[in-house]
Amino acid sequence: MSMPGDAGARQQRPGALVTGASRGIGRAIAGRLAALGYNLTLSGRRRDALEETARALAGSADGIGIQVVPADMASEDDVRELARQAGHLGSLDFLVLCAGVGSSGPVAGYPMHRFDRQVTVNLRAPFVLIQECLPLLRQAAAWHPDRGARIVAIASSTGVVSEPGLAAYAATKAALISLCASVNAEESASGVSATAISPGYVDTDMSAWVRDRVAREEMIKPADIATLVAAISTLSPQAVVPHVLVTRPGAGPAGA
Ligand SMILES: NC(=O)c1ccc[n+]([C@@H]2O[C@H](COP(=O)([O-])OP(=O)(O)OC[C@H]3O[C@@H](n4cnc5c(N)ncnc54)[C@H](OP(=O)(O)O)[C@@H]3O)[C@@H](O)[C@H]2O)c1
Repeated sequence: MSMPGDAGARQQRPGALVTGASRGIGRAIAGRLAALGYNLTLSGRRRDALEETARALAGSADGIGIQVVPADMASEDDVRELARQAGHLGSLDFLVLCAGVGSSGPVAGYPMHRFDRQVTVNLRAPFVLIQECLPLLRQAAAWHPDRGARIVAIASSTGVVSEPGLAAYAATKAALISLCASVNAEESASGVSATAISPGYVDTDMSAWVRDRVAREEMIKPADIATLVAAISTLSPQAVVPHVLVTRPGAGPAGA
């Protein structure tokens, strides 16, 4: 195992940490980064699901290192431990913040424990992970000034245009978009930049509740988001992309 600072780590494959990697959009992103040759740290709450993902990716991508680190984004201890382990495969060039939760209900009477959980998982955990991973990301950018280091956060179209019944979720996603912009203001001149990707409905477990009004075949595919992330990973550090909004054909202004 090589730790950051080892001479060997400079020469190694690039490394990525993907939260929410066990299912849906995160798993699709992990698959695309594996195909690009990234060493991967895969995180989510369920070890068995992460190990199944790791086996599938190892079978499809030759020679990459994969570690599985179960972590609950609602636990600050877990989040900090995940960041500590992120450098164990060598350099950390790419941080993908995909784990997220949502629940619906009008502002009037919305249970505050559900509000708090979404703020914790969707916003606080990404903030702490960025904070804790910045030393590794800055190191990767210094080692490879030609490619820099990147953060991608999966936000939501609801963070841009409001939809009734999603106030708490939308507020966390709007804040995530803002957080990426702040990271760019502070870090992009030294090679670490951040992109928030804000999709409308994507065909995953999370959007199952809306299938009675939006057919699965009309939803954005997880592979579409993974393709965008892969494209961002190949940009030069001179191209800072603060935000990408992905809408569905014919959808309203939010494109959800
Ligand atoms: N699907 C959509 O329509 C849509 C649209 C816009 C944005 N998004 C955003 O895209 C991201 C991924 O969503 P998805 O659609 O792929 O959802 P998904 O299929 O439900 O997957 C959610 C992922 O997050 C992980 N996760 C959930 N709670 C967690 C926690 N407390 N700690 C650690 N990991 C946790 C899950 O793993 P475990 O359950 O094993 O922990 C899973 O890997 C989310 O941030 C979501 O808000 C989704």
